[in-house]
Amino acid sequence: MTHSEPDHQRGLAGGARPASPPSTVLVTGGAGFIGSHTCVELLDHGYELIAVDNYSNSTPQVFSRVERIADRFVGAVYELDIRDRHALSAVFDRHSVDAVVHFAAHKAVGESTRMPVEYYDTNVGGTTALLRTMREHGVHQLVFSSSSSVYGDAGHGSLSEDTPARPTSPYAASKWLCERILDDVCRRLPEFTVLCLRYFNPVGAHPSGLLGEAPVGVPENLMPYVAQVAIGLRERLHVFGDDYATVDGTGIRDYIHVMDTAEAHRVALDHLADAPGMHVYNLGVGRGRSVLEVVEAFGEVSGSPIPYQIVGRRPGDVAELVADATAAARDWGWQATRDLIDMCRDAWRFQQLNPHGYAGSAGGRNAMSGPG
Ligand code: UD1
Repeated sequence: MTHSEPDHQRGLAGGARPASPPSTVLVTGGAGFIGSHTCVELLDHGYELIAVDNYSNSTPQVFSRVERIADRFVGAVYELDIRDRHALSAVFDRHSVDAVVHFAAHKAVGESTRMPVEYYDTNVGGTTALLRTMREHGVHQLVFSSSSSVYGDAGHGSLSEDTPARPTSPYAASKWLCERILDDVCRRLPEFTVLCLRYFNPVGAHPSGLLGEAPVGVPENLMPYVAQVAIGLRERLHVFGDDYATVDGTGIRDYIHVMDTAEAHRVALDHLADAPGMHVYNLGVGRGRSVLEVVEAFGEVSGSPIPYQIVGRRPGDVAELVADATAAARDWGWQATRDLIDMCRDAWRFQQLNPHGYAGSAGGRNAMSGPG
C-alpha cells in the first residue's frame, strides 16, 4: 500500500469552500473516469476526500489534475486493491470515514466474457471485502456504482428501475450480484443504507480538458473511438450494424455527460440519510441517441465530418437502452442538464489537449506546482 500525505497545509488560495454537509467520504476507484470527476464534484462541495485506487486502468497523475481543477487537495490517496482487506482496514483505522462511494471495478463488457473469474473476483469479491471492512469500522453508508447493463436486452421503451434484470455478460452479472448482496445486507442489517446508481452511457469530459476518458489501447466504446478518429489517430469508425429496428438502423443509447453523472453522486450522498435500506436509481438523460446522431454531433463540434463505415453487429449489443430517469428527479430534484453537443464538445477538448490520454502528463500529485 502506498500512501500520499495530506497536503492541506500547503494552503492553496481559495482552498476552503463552505463545507455542506461536513463529512468525510472514501472514494474507491477515485482515479477512474467517473471516479475522478466525482472527486472534483465532492471537493467543490466541501467534502473531505480519501481516495483509493490500484491504478489497474488509471494513473496517479489523475489526482494532481483533480486537485488543480478543484483548487483543493484530496485528504489522502492510497494505492491498494480493494480485495486487500488488511490494507483497506488500515485506511479506515486512519480516517474517520462517514460514507463510501464505490467505483473500483473492472468495466469492459467484452473483456468480461474472456475473463469471467477476474470480473467476479474483483467486482463481487471487492464489494464484499469493502462491506466487511465498513462493518468492522461502523461505516454503513454506501453509494454503489451499478450499470444499466443489468437490464440486458430489455427491448424498446424507457427502462424504469423495476424492469426485471437480465444480465447477459459476466460484467453485467457481477454488478447485478453486487446489487443482490447489497439488498440482502440492507434487509438483514438495518443500520446500512445503500444507493445503487445504474449508469446508462456516461461520456464527455471535464470542461477544463484536464480530465476525461482515457482508454488504454483501442477504445471499445463509441465516444472515445469517435474522438480518436476525429484527431486522426484512427482512420474511421466502424458502426456496428445499421439493421436494428431503430430510427436509422443503428443502436440507440442514453448518453449522459460525466459531469452530470458526477453531480448525481454528490446529490446521492446528500440523500443517503433520507431512508434506510437499499434504493436503486437510473442515471440517464431519458433520451435515446443513435450512433449516427453521435457521429454527426461530434463532426459538428470538431469541425469536420467523422469518417465511418457500416459493419456487422457487435455480438452482445442490444438495439436500444434508454433510461426512465424520473426517479432521481422525483426523489432528489436532480436531472441531467447537459446535452449531446456538450458531451461531444468536452470529449473533443480532452482529446485535443491529451491526444494520448494521460500518458506523458508530468508527475504524480505531489509534483503539482499549483493551480492555474
Ligand atoms: C457498454 C455497457 C455498459 C458500460 C459501457 C461503458 C452493455 C449493454 N453496456 O455500453 O454497461 O457502462 O459499455 O463501458 O454492455 N458502437 C459502434 N462502434 C464502436 C463502438 C460502439 O458502432 O466502435 C456502437 C455500439 O454498437 C452501441 C453504441 O455504439 O450501439 C454504444 O456502444 P458503447 O459505447 O460500447 O457502449 P454500450 O455497449 O452501450
